Amino acid sequence: MQGEVTVIEHPLVQHKLTLARRKSTSTNTFSRLMGEIATLMAYEVTREMPMQEIDIETPIGPMRSRVIDGKKIVFVPILRAGLGFLEGMRAVVPGARVGHIGLYRDPKTLVAVEYYFKMPQGMRNRDAIVIDPMLATGNSAVAAVERLKEASPRSIRFVCLLTCPEGLEHFHDKHPDVPVFTAAIDPGLNDHGYIVPGLGDAGDRIFGTK
Ligand code: URA
Repeated sequence: MQGEVTVIEHPLVQHKLTLARRKSTSTNTFSRLMGEIATLMAYEVTREMPMQEIDIETPIGPMRSRVIDGKKIVFVPILRAGLGFLEGMRAVVPGARVGHIGLYRDPKTLVAVEYYFKMPQGMRNRDAIVIDPMLATGNSAVAAVERLKEASPRSIRFVCLLTCPEGLEHFHDKHPDVPVFTAAIDPGLNDHGYIVPGLGDAGDRIFGTK
């Protein structure tokens, strides 16, 4: 799984991404689209999850049937924009636990500064899915995964809506073992560290701030 990147090309994801990118899209519509895209992406991100067989009884008789192996998955949104993706993913994995990592980008240096970190118990037996809609410079993603690795989850995946070659290269330079799932790889970054053409500031667009 060294430096693996999966671009989710499903037409529904791409259609909704186009609507979300438009600057005329309202806050209300934007956050609804984030939720819908997250639900669709959750299928792909969880596709290779390990499974185990258990004994169950149907109304007709006994059988062995498959469930996801291990303790409950843990979603780890990077605050704050990651929250915009969280509920959409929980819609299909309602039993998932949620850990939070609070990071902000220093606007001058673009370096990620941590202000919050809280994970559920039993991380060693959990598969972690880190959520941040924008993998831009990669600074926040790298710092978040570095911190998360201290909790030793069984596996880590990273899901974003948009990324760019610089961000991916930086991320996989530091974390080649963490696969990235994204809906698109845009051409690059501007001088402020925003993805171009991107969709603007994901947190502001989700929460209606400026
Ligand atoms: N964060 C955002 O919200 N948008 C970008 O383009 C880059 C980082």
